[in-house]
Amino acid sequence: MNTLESRIKVIENTFIKRYGSRPAFIVRAPGRVNLIGEHTDYNEGLVLPVAIDRDILIAASPDVESQSVCVYSLDYHQDDNFQVNDISFDSNKLWCNYLRGLLQVLTHKGYHIAGFKAVLAGTVPQGSGLSSSAAYEVAVATLVNAMFHLGIGGKDIALLSQKAENDFVGVQCGIMDQFVSVLAVSDAALLIDCRSLEYTVVPLHFMSLGWTIVVVHSGVVRGLVDSHYNERRAQCKEGVRLVSQQLGRADIKSLRDVSLAELSRCEAHLPSVILNRCRHVISENCRVEQAVKALELGDMQQFGWLMNESHQSLKNDYEVSCVELDTLVALSQEYPGVMGARMTGAGFGGCSVAIVKAHMLDSFCNEVVAAYEAQCGKKAAVYVCRPVGGATVLQGSVTSATA
Ligand code: GLA
Repeated sequence: MNTLESRIKVIENTFIKRYGSRPAFIVRAPGRVNLIGEHTDYNEGLVLPVAIDRDILIAASPDVESQSVCVYSLDYHQDDNFQVNDISFDSNKLWCNYLRGLLQVLTHKGYHIAGFKAVLAGTVPQGSGLSSSAAYEVAVATLVNAMFHLGIGGKDIALLSQKAENDFVGVQCGIMDQFVSVLAVSDAALLIDCRSLEYTVVPLHFMSLGWTIVVVHSGVVRGLVDSHYNERRAQCKEGVRLVSQQLGRADIKSLRDVSLAELSRCEAHLPSVILNRCRHVISENCRVEQAVKALELGDMQQFGWLMNESHQSLKNDYEVSCVELDTLVALSQEYPGVMGARMTGAGFGGCSVAIVKAHMLDSFCNEVVAAYEAQCGKKAAVYVCRPVGGATVLQGSVTSATA
């Protein structure tokens, strides 16, 4: 992969070639991999993601006298041009809508945004469950926040980015991806309480003990994920309704308010699909808590076991895995020098994540990829990931922003 410096050079040169001057701002926002806590964020639960060294870079200069936004995507070799005061969804160029959506959310909230010119490029593989869309939204929010002095804090950047995805792009995602893309800390995971939005930085000491985070893309680009995703959300909501009715407790607002013991008291009265969905979410929250304890104690075996259990639960109770992911995860779990492995992200394709001993890394990559291809007939891509900090303004000054 090209270094950050060389990527910045390319994006700057493209900017100069297209717009005739140097960009005043350069921002970056990372993608993420979730270590454990899947499909819990929209149930007010707990998640444990890390931001990864795959990101979206944007170079831009404000054009304060105008309302025109001109953006060029180096990945798509396409332009997008529109007016800040007249934003609509573009069904022909889907990549444009993250930027458009974010600007619309901000202007509707009353933030003053003028025109600007930008070039963007990313290294987060798209459609893979590593949150390229969240990285894009957060990069745009970070850029306009700095460029137009909006004074928006980190959590609000995450919430506004999520709102753009929910309301404009139309995907009912939770808060995890945007939150960690903004607030991540290097060499650490974030334990995020998706109800209170409080978070704890959890140092990943295992990295210095020779373990690495390895993401493997199954080569299955998530198909139909959004409808399945929204269906899971609806099933959880139905679970909340039925459980609170059964227990006679009007105070139950989300699955976070229900224990496994309470769920089993309702067992006979819940359709089995709803029961399974609820069991996954409630047990996954417990696993996240246990995983954080295991990391604090340096108990790698327990951490790995919890990852493996999480996969079983996603596969059997939440039914968001697929044959390819199950194969990758099984091959990874069986491999010597692997602490644990599971699918990561929304599922139905995308990636697995494994914690692998660094000295086994090369053989793991070669052998697991070869065995996967032999079994599933698909080429897997491996990303060895370093946990990085959240979105940053790499270059930009007040003077240039107001110029
Ligand atoms: C997607 C969503 C997240 C989260 C995960 C599943 O990545 O964007 O909000 O719900 O799926 O854990």
